[in-house]
Amino acid sequence: MIRGRMRILGIETSCDETGVAVFEPGRGLLAEALHSQVDLHARYGGVVPEIASRDHIRRLLPLVDEVLRQAGGPRPDAIAYTAGPGLVGALMVGSGLANGLALAWDRPVVPVHHMEAHLLAPMLEPEAPDFPFLALLVSGGHTMLVAAEGIGRYRLLGTTLDDAVGEAFDKTAKLLGLGYPGGAALARLALEGDERAFDLPRPMLHHGGFDFSFSGLKTAVMLQVRALEHDGGLAGHRADIAASFQRAVVDTLVGKTLNAARSERISSIVVAGGVGANVMLRAELARGFEGKVFYPRPEFCTDNGAMIAVAGAFRISDAVPPGEIEARARWPLYSLKPPKRNRK
Ligand code: KG4
Ligand code: ZN
Repeated sequence: MIRGRMRILGIETSCDETGVAVFEPGRGLLAEALHSQVDLHARYGGVVPEIASRDHIRRLLPLVDEVLRQAGGPRPDAIAYTAGPGLVGALMVGSGLANGLALAWDRPVVPVHHMEAHLLAPMLEPEAPDFPFLALLVSGGHTMLVAAEGIGRYRLLGTTLDDAVGEAFDKTAKLLGLGYPGGAALARLALEGDERAFDLPRPMLHHGGFDFSFSGLKTAVMLQVRALEHDGGLAGHRADIAASFQRAVVDTLVGKTLNAARSERISSIVVAGGVGANVMLRAELARGFEGKVFYPRPEFCTDNGAMIAVAGAFRISDAVPPGEIEARARWPLYSLKPPKRNRK
């Protein structure tokens, strides 16, 4: 539980979204703003770190200004920022501004773990999950099944051995000429296709424990696309490829998640991260699971400042005086500890 009436400013700059929000336990989300850099990176087919950092510098302060005005009332009591994992240059922009504001306002900072924030994003919803729950974290950089027993008490059950699931969506979308990042566009195209048109592999569905692998599926799609290109039949089958790919991914994710929930005897599942916005994934999990499935609202599945602010509120006892610009490219989720006040 979050105690006290601490007003938290949350700052997210780990990748290609500048997100800022103000959250107050008991009152909820008071303000929120986001700038997506998708258009800047699209022509390169992926995120260019240098461009990302420079754009965060341009956008961050005006967004902070905007949410403080939206929220009204007193200055925040603490500033939470994404300290990792992510692009170091991009992280340093958020970390630098958070520390600067904290120095000027005489406030503490809370360094937040980006994936923990994704995992806690459903806490922003009216119907929030209670621990323990099983978390399926599926984004452009991560695919993880985690048994969450409390804040900072995470057991990694499975992860991807190669590509992240969002990456697989993006690469397949690129093959189909859908631009970058193409996950959402691929899901839209899939609506018009026949998911049984192509028999694609469900990688490691029946072996490998709770680990995932998506590179074999990606190769299978690529070979199929090449064959269709060769026969001149690709144009008529793009939607069928999208639908068959999405079905293979969803079958794999849902199969592994349900097995994990059963073996851990957990009756709540949280789905978070960008791919959590996928409508078919949501529908199939709801259909296959007897327990309850919790999600953030779709706009809080992808990167945002609100989840950083709420994670900062849960970790307020870990607040530190400003001064150290934390920015970690790698930072395993399972290395986190419970917040200071909960440690024995
Ligand atoms: O969590 P996120 O915003 O950023 C990372 O931390 O990676 O996730 C972005 C990923 C991208 O790969 C994007 O293509 C994917 O989430 N994505 C989707 C959908 N919406 C976003 N994938 C499948 N279906 C969607 N509706
Ligand atoms: Zn993310």
